[in-house]
Amino acid sequence: MVGLLLLLTGHLGGNLTHGSTYLLEYAPNPVRNLAGLPSKVEPREKVTVLDSSDVFLDLVLPMMQSKCVGCHNEGKNKGGLVLTSYVKMMVGGESENTIVPGDALESELVRRITLPSEHDDFMPSEGKLPLTDQEVVLIKWWIKIGAPQNGFVTELDTENAVSSLVSNYLGLDKNNLFNKKVSPPNRSIVDSLVRHGFVINPLMKDNYFLEANFSLSEYDLKASDMDSLLELKEHLVWLNLGNSQVKDAYLEKIGLLQNLVKLDLRGNEITDKGIKHLSKLENLESLNLYGTKVSKGVLDLVPKLSRLKKLYLWQSEVSNETITLLKDQNPGLTVIFERE
Ligand code: HEC
Repeated sequence: MVGLLLLLTGHLGGNLTHGSTYLLEYAPNPVRNLAGLPSKVEPREKVTVLDSSDVFLDLVLPMMQSKCVGCHNEGKNKGGLVLTSYVKMMVGGESENTIVPGDALESELVRRITLPSEHDDFMPSEGKLPLTDQEVVLIKWWIKIGAPQNGFVTELDTENAVSSLVSNYLGLDKNNLFNKKVSPPNRSIVDSLVRHGFVINPLMKDNYFLEANFSLSEYDLKASDMDSLLELKEHLVWLNLGNSQVKDAYLEKIGLLQNLVKLDLRGNEITDKGIKHLSKLENLESLNLYGTKVSKGVLDLVPKLSRLKKLYLWQSEVSNETITLLKDQNPGLTVIFERE
């Protein structure tokens, strides 16, 4: 209770100096009531499936609420702009082209959030927490499709440009792989891999998922090791074959390790011919292709890996043009193209 009162006086203090109720606007109802404000309508329940996520209520408005309304509310409308509701947003601010439905690039709001962050006009100003790249992509998309007041993302996203990004953003694409029960791995297979130079460890305490690492081995990787790995295909979740002289042909079997979430293939002489075998790895979230000979083939592969979030391509043969295309076509993907 003491904490609450302190908090409350803190809020009221802010309230007095700013001459508005903005600090209380987003306070929980008990605090609002104590401060003599009416309860507000319960916040929208968190969506759990993409099909029922609303473009404004679940995407745009929460971004404004968390990063913009501190300065753009009814009491403190900087730049003449209030960002607390759809109608107020569309009324816009001093610029008259705050939001131009259908034209993201003509919209002052988009200009403000895409400037270099040190620019005077950049929003949010005063070094406040900026929108993430994902959020910027989503706002631009929303304006481009006409800045609708509502509508389900899946119906509006006819070109399938952002659905996977939205599910990722809303945390709807949790990998349920880890809910699966797997039985203990075959001991003799694990032992033989260890004898051949693999380091194998359990990934978590309460199940039998495994991590296998060959990158530090002094031995040569053999084609027959691929068969042993395949016998552990239920268990293998992380696989590191960095700098291990992996050949294109090996990837045919690696591509059958369906539970892989993380795959490191850096420093191997593998090409587009090899990586096309990876297209069935639907749990893959991270793929490292640093220092390999892959090039344009990533453009075919990546859209098939629906969970992929990180792709490492530094010192591969992928051109800058391909990187740009890749990023355009897969807005939810982080491409790492230089030394970290
Ligand atoms: C720390 C306070 C602060 C925060 C947070 C903030 N703004 Fe602003 N904003 C301002 C001020 C001050 C102005 C007016 C001065 C100017 O035009 O730069 C302004 C002006 C604007 C304008 C120009 C209005 C018009 O139509 O001409 C836009 C658009 C804008 N902000 C968008 C945003 C968005 C989007 C966010 C959240 C990502 C945000 N602001 C967060 C302080 C803030």
